[in-house]
Amino acid sequence: MWRDYTAITPQAERIHRLLTQRGEILCNDHIALRTFGAPAIGLTALAQPFEALGWRAGDHHCYADKPLRACAWRPPGPGMPQLVISELVVGELSPTAQAVIDGLLAQLPATGEAWATAGRPWQLSHAAYEALAAESEYAAWVAAFGARVHHIAVDVASLSTFPDLAALTAFLIEHGFALDPAEPARPGSPSQHLEQVRTRVDAVTVGFTEISARIPSCYYEFARRCR
Ligand code: NI
Repeated sequence: MWRDYTAITPQAERIHRLLTQRGEILCNDHIALRTFGAPAIGLTALAQPFEALGWRAGDHHCYADKPLRACAWRPPGPGMPQLVISELVVGELSPTAQAVIDGLLAQLPATGEAWATAGRPWQLSHAAYEALAAESEYAAWVAAFGARVHHIAVDVASLSTFPDLAALTAFLIEHGFALDPAEPARPGSPSQHLEQVRTRVDAVTVGFTEISARIPSCYYEFARRCR
């Protein structure tokens, strides 16, 4: 999953190397997956391999102002990341966007388990990508990249040479990385008890049916859990 993630978020690999060269041994706070809310690849299907390995589901969370559902899974042991999977509630989008997504889901193989590292299992035109992007950045992202890791968040408490998030932020800026403040967490959401910063979203070239285009991919995140 790390290889899958850094393939579309190369800055994560560079930052990881900078930190390990400093002597840090990184632990991750959470791994966040994004998908479409459809039986074959929805959050329940994507969670199955993790549940088989011992991750335990917490409460589902819905958003009043976004067509999303999310759930967090507790890891089976210390030093392992939480799993957060969110899915797009496709039925809450416009008929046009729903038709595009239905066309992608119709290309899924009839059998087989949902794996978050299977890559993008459908063909997508750039025009369809743009149509989705005009309505939902989230929908366009899953259409372009598939159901997979969206971002990984380093557990800042696992770092030994940075006293706090501010020290890490200063280090990253000094090394040329642009940072964005994380969205304020909503009460009850999986990120409620987190203090976080993230890099500016990376960009990669993606193949569409007509052209290849450079589009936004993901950020690398740094989280401090308020215990
Ligand atoms: Ni996160």
